[in-house]
Amino acid sequence: MSRNFEITASLICGDPLNLERSVCDIIGADIDRIHFDVMDGVCVPRFGLYPEILVGVRKLTDLPVDVHMMVTNPEPYIEMYAKAGATIFYVHAENNSNLHRTLKLVRDAGMKPGVVLNMATPVCVLDYILADIDYVLLMAINPGIVGYTIIDAVYTKIRDVKTLIGGRSIKIVIDGGVTLESSATMVRAGADVLVCGSSTIFRPAEGPLAELTKKFLKSVTTQLEES
Ligand code: DX5
Ligand code: ZN
Repeated sequence: MSRNFEITASLICGDPLNLERSVCDIIGADIDRIHFDVMDGVCVPRFGLYPEILVGVRKLTDLPVDVHMMVTNPEPYIEMYAKAGATIFYVHAENNSNLHRTLKLVRDAGMKPGVVLNMATPVCVLDYILADIDYVLLMAINPGIVGYTIIDAVYTKIRDVKTLIGGRSIKIVIDGGVTLESSATMVRAGADVLVCGSSTIFRPAEGPLAELTKKFLKSVTTQLEES
């Protein structure tokens, strides 16, 4: 079935004792990309995945792997993640005193630069860096915790970012709050990529990941066709 949005599987929602199995499940499903959360326990109240895991993932798949840096200072890790095989390298706009420089370092390292905005961060922080980014990731929850409930203001924010980027080839990605109920509205508002986690496809008690992905895609595409 053709669709006008991509889905990316949030690996941190996989089985912590068997991530290899989780990666193989993702490869075997109709999933476009892998989302790779990195956390330092300071920037967000949790610890996440790390570069050695990405090296292992790369031995299993050529799928794009998008690294979401929820750390206080991402710059020292740019080369490390580029070497490990990251596709996109997302940095948060908050607490970054030289975002332009960070994004340039990301591109120079051979990765696609993406900027992440937490809910309270205004869209205007993108005004002067639109030429330097390929992706904008909007947090629809407060970052770092899986399974949080969506903050509804994200729908307005998606439309605002869509207007701001105009004809530029920048993609809008939504992280958190992606559910069977919210996804079609997100895509209609302008979202290009949805991060799927514990609310959608990582629910082992409800069935295998490939089946839940199929169900999710069918439901969202049907809702989009009906609108
Ligand atoms: C980001 C989160 C997400 C999360 C989103 O801070 O870690 O990547 O998995 O999906 P849900 O909320 O469905 O687990
Ligand atoms: Zn994330």
